[in-house]
Amino acid sequence: MSEETKIVIDSHEQLLLSLPKTNGWLGDIYLYQGFWCPSKILTNIISLQKHYQAHDQHILLASTPKSGLTWLKALVFSITNRVTYTLSATPLLTSNPHELVPFLEFTLYAHNKIPEINSTSDISLSPRLFSTHIPYVSLPESVKHSNCRVIYICRNPFDSLVSFWHFATGEGRLKYTMEEYAEKFCEGEVGFGPFWDHILGFWKESLEKPEKVLFLKYENLKEDPVFHVKKLAEFVGFPFSLEEEKQGVVEEIIKLCSLKNLKELEVNKNGKFMPNFRNKSYFRKGEVGDWVNHLSPSMVERLKKVMQEKLSNSGLTF
Ligand code: A3P
Repeated sequence: MSEETKIVIDSHEQLLLSLPKTNGWLGDIYLYQGFWCPSKILTNIISLQKHYQAHDQHILLASTPKSGLTWLKALVFSITNRVTYTLSATPLLTSNPHELVPFLEFTLYAHNKIPEINSTSDISLSPRLFSTHIPYVSLPESVKHSNCRVIYICRNPFDSLVSFWHFATGEGRLKYTMEEYAEKFCEGEVGFGPFWDHILGFWKESLEKPEKVLFLKYENLKEDPVFHVKKLAEFVGFPFSLEEEKQGVVEEIIKLCSLKNLKELEVNKNGKFMPNFRNKSYFRKGEVGDWVNHLSPSMVERLKKVMQEKLSNSGLTF
């Protein structure tokens, strides 16, 4: 082990000792900069906060876990790469969306790596798409001060909670019942939580800087995908031409990125993009309001109360 690595590990351990902690899904989670951070990726987050330089051509896709990020990645990848790849030869047919739009904290800055994404030569590959679950306040300063774009997708907390519970139990390691997990969620003590602080951080920024942060709701995207896909394309600087619209390119992208289509691809049935997670776990039902089948009236009441309290006066409703 190099001296430098030893120093990083020592200071990481010192930091962990100083932070409040509680049980999380895959081990302890630590309250770092106001959010509950899984211990395994704290070093990655500190590293990317230090090293990641956002450029004007970068596009950052962000969300709390289980809000529709996989879908957003597929759509934005398809929109921004439609000149490079025809829809019948897109890498989306053979790679999971998370491979095509990597996470800064889980993938790019993992294992003490500092990826070469800051060099000018890389910018020629613009736009560069990245993703994150980190709250807005904790993103590197360069994200806030460059002209890079941020697209945030949020989902109603009830479906998001239920989706996470299925994802984590499907991966076989969540030790909480739905009720216990709902309680943790209401306390804010879940990875990248509290949920409401996360969404409010991006919501406020999208109101102050609408040209920089686009705030999308999963439910709205489901309700009117054509409108929102066109909006996404304009926001990232790749608007559809009238010719493309006439040819039905928008609808083709929506079809390609549909849950039904992605779920049936071999790579998403049997592949893995991270050692621990199977691609298939990212595609379940994709329904709005599935929570009614899983949450008891008392859980719903409790969560409604918390959300009302936390979101009142924000203008954000579900
Ligand atoms: P459900 O568990 O409710 O089915 P994330 O992508 O942020 O991890 O969120 C996962 C949720 O988005 C899951 O919700 C999953 O089924 C849904 N999802 C994944 N791909 C989708 C797609 N192409 N269209 C709509 N929903 C999708």
